[in-house]
Amino acid sequence: MSILKERLRQKINECRPRTERLMREYRDVKVADVTVGQLLGGMRGLKCLVTDISYLDPLEGIRYRGYTLPEVFKKLPKPKGKEMPYVEGLFFLLLTGDIPTEAEVHDVLDEFNKRRILPRYVYEVIDSFPCCSHPMSIFSAAITTLQRESFFSKKYEAGIPKSEYWDPTFEDAMNLLAKLPEIGTYIYAKLYRDGKRIQSNPGLDFAGNFAHMMGVEEPYYDDVSRMNFIIHSDHESGNVSAHTGHLVASSLADIYLSISAMINGLAGPLHGLANQGVLRWLQAIMEKMDNRIPSEDEMKQFVWDTLNAGQVIPGYGHAVLRKTDPRYLLQREFSLKHLQDDLLFKYVDILYKVVPPILKEHGKAKNPWPNVDAHSGMIQWHYGVTEYDFYTVLFGIGRAIGITANIIWDRALMYPLERPKSITTDMIEEIVANASKTDG
Ligand SMILES: CC(C)(COP(=O)(O)OP(=O)(O)OC[C@H]1O[C@@H](n2cnc3c(N)ncnc32)[C@H](O)[C@@H]1OP(=O)(O)O)[C@@H](O)C(=O)NCCC(=O)NCCS
Repeated sequence: MSILKERLRQKINECRPRTERLMREYRDVKVADVTVGQLLGGMRGLKCLVTDISYLDPLEGIRYRGYTLPEVFKKLPKPKGKEMPYVEGLFFLLLTGDIPTEAEVHDVLDEFNKRRILPRYVYEVIDSFPCCSHPMSIFSAAITTLQRESFFSKKYEAGIPKSEYWDPTFEDAMNLLAKLPEIGTYIYAKLYRDGKRIQSNPGLDFAGNFAHMMGVEEPYYDDVSRMNFIIHSDHESGNVSAHTGHLVASSLADIYLSISAMINGLAGPLHGLANQGVLRWLQAIMEKMDNRIPSEDEMKQFVWDTLNAGQVIPGYGHAVLRKTDPRYLLQREFSLKHLQDDLLFKYVDILYKVVPPILKEHGKAKNPWPNVDAHSGMIQWHYGVTEYDFYTVLFGIGRAIGITANIIWDRALMYPLERPKSITTDMIEEIVANASKTDG
């Protein structure tokens, strides 16, 4: 058994009694009330999900297993001579809560290596997609196609006990994650490189191999890939992709079906697709400015024109965050160090100065600050990955790392089928009328 799986088993045994006790002794203790605003307003702020893997503080940003992002980047082991940590180490941390040693990271790396070969039929499914298909549709379908490999489904049919569901779920997760760099880069090759596939290099780590198969040999693109997958991996459980993965998995659909579903949620323009929206918007500004650097006043005018046309400023705002996203700041730090002279970076930099005061003056967005998507596409563009439809696939590979970890834990703690209650508009009106009578 891998070191990771052994450690996970130990952590599950420690955690299960806590959940069982809460359910047994405190199940009627009230955690939150629900307002009409929450019911009709996308359940903002409603405390109704549990995860120990990450927590999003509105002012501080995300913590993975209690560590802020800068701490995660500082503490996780890195490949020799590289600035960014192993993705394999992140998966170990998300699953166990422990910062892994070099040896523990290499154990995960070896496990991924054993499982990375993609069955022939997945290439064929990808090849069979009609032209102009969006890469996220192909990505989702490729993952669904792999469902026939599900170890969990076979074990479930064979009748394993509920307490053991997490074990084949873990195996499915490892098998799927190991294949994602190959799936993603093959979609890229098929759509944008005449199907010319670059063979994987088993000597490389998850993200290094991804960078290699993308065909980007520039210095630091492997580190960009490590950073990208790590910052996108998890953002607590209420966002659309995480919640979708959790919800679908709660029906005991296997990892393949659940991750494919979460990829579909990520493909919406208010969620993961915003990164391609940012690039499209930046290109429009560049075209208008004839590829020169605009003055702050010109940029302000462009931002107001976008708002006055009834559009949102892509990459700005957030449903939970109320300050600049630390995921944005990490990418900014990298760009200030390595991409300072990039023209597009200068655009992103000017926008960082001018957009927040404008959004404040505009008065609608609760959070005027940039989120992760305001920066990620610009870095890809710098390295020659200019096909911005593809950017959400990069997000999806990273997000799959966090969501698989969450689903394994959902199974470990034996969370039941998710099934909240809906009510009708009539019922809400009746509740409101009764409340006013009582107040009166
Ligand atoms: C992320 C996002 C979907 C959050 O939505 P939300 O929780 O409903 O945000 P808010 O509560 O602040 O929205 C209140 C109003 O401000 C508007 N608003 C929010 N962000 C805005 C932005 N970047 N530009 C212009 N208006 C914005 C909303 O559209 C909404 O307007 P409405 O009342 O006319 O519907 C939203 O900020 C947005 O659309 N951002 C741009 C897309 C993006 O970057 N998505 C990636 C998220 S990681």
